[in-house]
Amino acid sequence: MSFYVTTPIYYVNAAPHLGHAYTTIGADILARHMRQRGEDVFFLTGTDEHGEPVVQAAEREGITPRELGDANAPRFRELMDRAGVSNDFFIRTTDPEHEARVQEILQRVNDNGHVYPGTYEGWYCPRCADFKTDTELGPDNTCPIHGIPLDWQQEENYFFRLSTFQEPLEQLYAERPDFVLPQARFNEALAFIRGGLADVSLSRAKITWGVPVPWDPSQVFYVWFDALLNYVTALTYARPGEDLIARYWPPSFQLIGKDILKFHAVYWPALLMAAGYDVPRHLFVHGFLLMQGEKMSKSLGNVLDPLAVIERFGADALRYYCFRDVSFGQDGSVSTADFETRYETELANELGNLASRTLAMVERYRGGVVPDAGVDPEPAADFDGLVGLVRDRLDRADLTAALDEIWQRVRRLNRYVEERAPWQLARSDDRADELDLTLRSLAEGLRVVTVLLYPYIPGTAERLLQALGQPGLELEGARFGARGGGARVAGIPPLFPKP
Ligand code: MSP
Repeated sequence: MSFYVTTPIYYVNAAPHLGHAYTTIGADILARHMRQRGEDVFFLTGTDEHGEPVVQAAEREGITPRELGDANAPRFRELMDRAGVSNDFFIRTTDPEHEARVQEILQRVNDNGHVYPGTYEGWYCPRCADFKTDTELGPDNTCPIHGIPLDWQQEENYFFRLSTFQEPLEQLYAERPDFVLPQARFNEALAFIRGGLADVSLSRAKITWGVPVPWDPSQVFYVWFDALLNYVTALTYARPGEDLIARYWPPSFQLIGKDILKFHAVYWPALLMAAGYDVPRHLFVHGFLLMQGEKMSKSLGNVLDPLAVIERFGADALRYYCFRDVSFGQDGSVSTADFETRYETELANELGNLASRTLAMVERYRGGVVPDAGVDPEPAADFDGLVGLVRDRLDRADLTAALDEIWQRVRRLNRYVEERAPWQLARSDDRADELDLTLRSLAEGLRVVTVLLYPYIPGTAERLLQALGQPGLELEGARFGARGGGARVAGIPPLFPKP
């Protein structure tokens, strides 16, 4: 089976912050998990480089939008690399291949009769690049997301007949109750659709930084249509000479933040229908990372610099924290203090110590070879069905619930060490069998949780599995008792050292 997962493409108007790393790491966890299941995975991320948000930021810096994109796109790439993100392609909407495909597809939408020229009049937020409907206005005609006064816009442009998709969209939502996850976002999108859909601008007359409209080059496409199409266009040129559409379309999961729900849950499926493509299987909508009670954002200045955290604590600690501390799908506060607490109490003490104790005891009591004994039915019972539970949670992109299931087993193993006290068993020769059983069960439990944790903390998991002498990452092998004893272990430095 193929599994195609995408993130939003990020505006290059400023340096990336943790909010951007968040979605991409979330997608990476799904991609890695699906690879463990043997799926044929394609994972896309990239940058959104056209439109007003980028033009205005470039003006402020006294450079061209292209220069701004060329300066910032590599910073997003670098962040992804440093965060251990395993994307298969990084798209930039200034790629000439993307621009050419956008023109082709939207020409087809026009040829199919979904476009007409008209006059737009209404409120517009240049930071969202969003034409706000009456129900989306903040107090005194401000942007509810950015808090800035909205611009009153009037211009001649081309319109996409979104209104004609009202019924097909309602039908889509009726047939596919898991099209948008979690449920609350599904309801929100459906309510927006039922509230009545007005046609939307497909092009802009006042902006020149964008993809020219092929039938009227005095206009460029409205940045959102150009940007949304990245999910299609990337597949046509990510692998030179190959068209990956047949292999990967439609996307299995598209991860987005709640601020861009309307574009993805309403405009996007309508646009795909108009262009003759299948709609994605699932959109997963996550909440905001908050700092000091507000959305983390460059303009508010309350950002946590992910590179600084990675520098000090490593990428895996950041990846773990993001999905442990904030329930994926909800808003949640993050802070340096919470991060440090989780690092110490959970990663260093619970997992790190479990690993170092297990390896050290196998070394000391059994010469570094995991005893070839059976597994203890007691801890084994607590792992029953675990792989299925994790799969089910991740099939719904519930990254936090899956991680919680795994972490409960990390804690179970720590209790097991205390219950069995191998250091006491080691004192009497006639308890050698018990010690064999205990060490083997500990090593096996540790291996299982590590395979399951791999998508979250890939670097650490690979190191630990190597040390356990069992490097296999396949999900099939994550059953307690799936692998035999006899492996030779190796000592390793602390997995989560004091920074
Ligand atoms: N360029 C558009 C998306 C086009 S997709 C076809 C855009 N870019 S963005 O850079 O402003 O935001 C990209 C994503 O980052 C959004 O999903 C947004 O929700 C997410 N985040 C930005 N700040 C965030 C937090 N503080 N917390 C969580 N995610 C947030 O919108």
